Amino acid sequence: MDLKQFVSRGAGSIQPDAISTFNNQVAGIEGLIPLTLGEPDFSTPEHVKEAAIQAIEQNQSHYTNPQGLPALRRAAADYVHDKYGLNYDPDSEVLATAGVSEAMLCTFLAILNPGDEVIIPTPAFPVYESVVKVPGGRPVFIDTSNDGFKLTPEKLKQTLATHDKAKAIILNYPSNPTGVTYDQDELTALADVIKAYDVVVISDEIYSELTYDHAHFSFARLLPDQTITFNGLSKSHAMTGWRIGIVFAKPTLLSEIFKMHMFASFSLTANAQYAAIEAFNNGRNDAEPMKQVYIQRRDLVMKGLKAAGLTSSHPEGAFYIFASVPKSFNGDSMKFGLALAKEARVGVVPGVGFGPGGEGSFRLSYAASTEDLTEAVKRIQDFVKKHE
Ligand SMILES: Cc1ncc(COP(=O)(O)O)c(C=O)c1O
Repeated sequence: MDLKQFVSRGAGSIQPDAISTFNNQVAGIEGLIPLTLGEPDFSTPEHVKEAAIQAIEQNQSHYTNPQGLPALRRAAADYVHDKYGLNYDPDSEVLATAGVSEAMLCTFLAILNPGDEVIIPTPAFPVYESVVKVPGGRPVFIDTSNDGFKLTPEKLKQTLATHDKAKAIILNYPSNPTGVTYDQDELTALADVIKAYDVVVISDEIYSELTYDHAHFSFARLLPDQTITFNGLSKSHAMTGWRIGIVFAKPTLLSEIFKMHMFASFSLTANAQYAAIEAFNNGRNDAEPMKQVYIQRRDLVMKGLKAAGLTSSHPEGAFYIFASVPKSFNGDSMKFGLALAKEARVGVVPGVGFGPGGEGSFRLSYAASTEDLTEAVKRIQDFVKKHE
């Protein structure tokens, strides 16, 4: 019997995550400095860990309210209100999910019908393409590589005018993989285009606390009814393993995303939710010292890549830099990524996995120790020289 016949069209239409796949391919190389994953090298703040320990000791080990503990929803709503000026009702407009990862799939399952289109500015986090395709959605890519990696109002307008099945637009800023972000004026110009159309914006702001040069501005400030906002604690509080994501949206949409979440995971780990309440309420500036270190590392890596003769994005947030592969590789980012890993023992992610505009570049994550980054930059410089 051919078991392939049992695979759904949605599952069959996607590949495993490109970043993890490449990481697994090179992870076994001895002495490799892995700059592949978006994984903070800091530890979760002590006061946050303490809250989880207390919750365990108090036997908080049961199912919780599936939408998230009421105190967690209140804490998350207060946090985005005080930091970003957003107004969400904890009862009907906030949902806790197992990271933004679960939020993404639940959201697209909740809003897409087969054939609906979703606009994705690229290079982009590869997961977006997959979570759009599972329910039968069609990604429509806009290559931003000639526009400083930013979606321009002109290109968005042109795309919306020619795609009447477009139902959603994904914005992700600061961006994975380029580190660029948008300021209030740039977002307002995009909102001016979007408000004329019946589309929703999925605004993935998971890196909001790691915005370097100006205050982060949330898209939902501009078009609250049309926006679904994702945020969470993975990056701001170095809590990737705790799996805390938060969805903010108007009740009509939030209630549908909530249904998907109920059937995907029901409720989140109880002690992790208590840790999250502590992080949102009393760890508002926990990201600040990490951010200062990331800025120093960004400068170190940018300088080092420039000295190697490589051009790159200018990251204004997150912890990624997107740089061009050396000329001798003729734009083949996979060939470059594999050779760099094998010969120089530095792991970076080939740009080809990030969609149109990604080929010819690579993503380096500087969420690694300064010592490792210093050595990695040196190895990259030697490697580029050797391949001139
Ligand atoms: C842009 C973006 N969105 C979402 C996620 C997933 O985050 P979480 O840990 O909350 O699932 C990541 C993780 O790397 C990311 O880079």
